[in-house]
Amino acid sequence: MAKTKVAFLCLVLLSFSYASNDYGFSEEEVSAFTNPYVVTSVVSNTGGVTVQAQYQAPADLETPASEQIITNLAITIQYDNPYRVRFTMTDANNARWQVPNAIPSYTPSGAGSFYSLAPIVVGQPLSIKITRTTDNKVVFFLNPSQPFGYNNQDIGFANWLGYPIKVMGLGERISSFVLAQGSYTLYARDRGSPIDTGDTPDSNMYSSQPFYLAVDNQLAAHGGLFLNSNAMTAFVGSNFVGFRTTGGIIDFFLFIGPQPADVINQYHDLIGYPTLVPWWGLGWHQCRYGFQNISVVSSVTTSYTTYNLPLDAMWIDIDYMNQYQDFTLDPVNFPQASFTTWVTNLKAANKHFVPIVDAGIAQSAGYSVYNSGLNPNVYITSAYKNVPTTGVVWPGVSVFVDWFNPNANAFWTGQLTKFNTLTSFSGIWIDMNEASNFVNGEPGHPPSQITNLTMPYTPGQDVNDNSIDVASIHYGGILEYNVHSLFGFGETMATYQYFKGLNLRPFIITRSSFVGTGRYAGKWTGDNFSQWSFLAYSITGLFDLGMFGIPFAGADICGFQGNTNEELCSRWMQLGTLYPFSRNHNAKGSVDQYPWSFGSTLLQTSNIAIRTKYSLLLHFATGMFRVSLMGGMHFRPAFFDYPNDINLLNNATSHFMLGEGLIVHPCLWPGVTGSTSYFPYDLWYDFYQGTYMQLNYYNSAYLNMTLPGPIPIHIKGGYIVPTLDNSNTALDTISLRKSPITLVVALNGAFQADGHAVFDDGLSINSLSGNLYTMINYHYQYVNATTDTLIIQPTISGYTRANGEFPYISNIIIYGCVEGIRNVFYTTTAFSGQLNPVFLLWNPNTSVCKIILSSSRQLVLPDMAGQLTINFYL
Ligand code: NOJ
Repeated sequence: MAKTKVAFLCLVLLSFSYASNDYGFSEEEVSAFTNPYVVTSVVSNTGGVTVQAQYQAPADLETPASEQIITNLAITIQYDNPYRVRFTMTDANNARWQVPNAIPSYTPSGAGSFYSLAPIVVGQPLSIKITRTTDNKVVFFLNPSQPFGYNNQDIGFANWLGYPIKVMGLGERISSFVLAQGSYTLYARDRGSPIDTGDTPDSNMYSSQPFYLAVDNQLAAHGGLFLNSNAMTAFVGSNFVGFRTTGGIIDFFLFIGPQPADVINQYHDLIGYPTLVPWWGLGWHQCRYGFQNISVVSSVTTSYTTYNLPLDAMWIDIDYMNQYQDFTLDPVNFPQASFTTWVTNLKAANKHFVPIVDAGIAQSAGYSVYNSGLNPNVYITSAYKNVPTTGVVWPGVSVFVDWFNPNANAFWTGQLTKFNTLTSFSGIWIDMNEASNFVNGEPGHPPSQITNLTMPYTPGQDVNDNSIDVASIHYGGILEYNVHSLFGFGETMATYQYFKGLNLRPFIITRSSFVGTGRYAGKWTGDNFSQWSFLAYSITGLFDLGMFGIPFAGADICGFQGNTNEELCSRWMQLGTLYPFSRNHNAKGSVDQYPWSFGSTLLQTSNIAIRTKYSLLLHFATGMFRVSLMGGMHFRPAFFDYPNDINLLNNATSHFMLGEGLIVHPCLWPGVTGSTSYFPYDLWYDFYQGTYMQLNYYNSAYLNMTLPGPIPIHIKGGYIVPTLDNSNTALDTISLRKSPITLVVALNGAFQADGHAVFDDGLSINSLSGNLYTMINYHYQYVNATTDTLIIQPTISGYTRANGEFPYISNIIIYGCVEGIRNVFYTTTAFSGQLNPVFLLWNPNTSVCKIILSSSRQLVLPDMAGQLTINFYL
């Protein structure tokens, strides 16, 4: 019988891991190990179905003692709304661990007609099948002929679709965007960027994000969230997605789709929209690990001005700390007086300081931060004695704040408040919050109570590896075992409270994340390498984080580990400045990679790249604001916008969209001066010049990528993008707010175009909730053969531009303009008459018109309702 037991466990794994055919194992095996839960009751109502199921051991299967089988399952199938179904399955007799805080509370609204649930039959093995009614595709199938297990520390189930799918998501890892078939560990872990190909189970990284997007051959999509914080494995097969977890309950949300972007919106509707990002946060950030002292930091800051390069924030890594203790300054290398002088000058120059804060608090008798957390105690407790559990991190033996403790917020906010008096920071970078531990468990006390030896199932990695001992205890008796992957999330929420108390939009960058983190913070992708492959992986990383609802994201530009070179760094500056969060960061000991560290190619390319981001800053701010308002993604794969083009999915990371109007083709290869690049079928114009893109039969065109130079960006016919004129001269995003606006109008075949701009103070936390923003629609349309109009229409006018902010529209540049302009009339409630533009230009070769308005007697305001009537020569 022991043989049968082993077979059961292996089969779950085998069937999920190595799906060489549809199911990965033979028909014979399938019938021997079917789902052992039989339905004992079913109650249906309009809100869903409640089911009871009971374990009935298969005749030939001995129940292994270590499995601790849950005999009675209480199951609910809840119709959350017309696009979402929630399944919960838990022990009918005993409470089990359930994830708190990840999703905001909601009231289910019931099913519509987009999906239907197949009848669940008493006396039959548990089977749940949901069909999307719009195309009759199965989008969820708990197949009774497949393995299903519900044991105390080993729960496994899968969604068997029965048709081929491509699966994305399931973070965090470095992988291809479309995941290879295989198994993927989800558990927060500090690891230096292993590449996960699906057959390398121990390749999980900082976060646990158990959400997937699955797309079939017709690009019809559904999604799933397995809301469970325990260490787990996800299995990606040719036609299924499965999970096996080490505890908690099955709490699964199904997103019906049917298009990829719909799934992502449906997911974001559940987990909540991301926090607003401060305006300055979208600018340019410089960091490095290994700044020797404040003079070096100061000279890097000065170099930015010397080289006439914009800069918005200087970051300092753990180098500034006294003995790597949080919230302290090293008295020798970062003495208070010099530090204060530096930070005062920095702020006077409209720039910001962002320090790192580590998760481990040094356990040192004379360290006031540690001591103040003892009374009242806010630390996670040891499994062995009633004292704080310990680990070893940068400062040596360390303790860890228990974010479940109700006193933790006050402790943390208190520390940040004092630290701000010391350092005048504007944002906080929270690192090592997996929480990372250089030893396994407590120093001198290797984990012994819960280990992979006591667990019936180990999900790819030993749960104690580089972790706080998982037997450690949180407030209320919660085990670290259950909440290990929630540490970063808890820290993020507490840090958010600090900024909220100041009514400031938080600038928080975290390394570890969980479902819902985006409501509080942004994230960077961790310790990448200065290698070409990681330049490309950064696009996957940002797509993933966008899907996970953390759109304010970036990778370490020019690469963290190892040495970069001028060409790689130039390409990374081009791409990285178009991440929403753009920060150059470098490892200790690696060669310098500042924009001026190599030659003129990097310097010139960096200048162009940062200024390109600046010219698009209103576009980024608008795009990010809209994501905070309604979910979705700004930096996103093009197949989201063209859900009929499978080529875009197959090459998803060779390009990306910035909102609906812009597509970017980065250069991801060494030694290249151009590339034949694929475009979605549409009308595209070179963003910088306005020339129309002539696509070949395969929808491709050769793009010049010569260095030094700009990254190829194209604007789609039908879109209007506001750009900022002062991007050519500004050295910070605060002064950039004084910039006049040029509207780039790219006409579609019907001579129409639309765009948006959001104006707000860029700082307040309640701009959205208090309607303290102005949302403008720009609409360009054809009227007759000689006349077009551009309508400026606010939909919300909650913000009044202050102190010369965005003072006027200086230029309107029209791409696809086939006639010269004769005159322009302007109508607002206060004015009606002909404008006197400085110039009316038309280039018939490129079909670009330019209306230069800046010193026009009547200013065209970017946020006031008005209409421009543009008359053309015939
Ligand atoms: C690990 C972080 O990922 C990295 O960015 C940082 O430089 C080091 N810790 C040192 O603090």
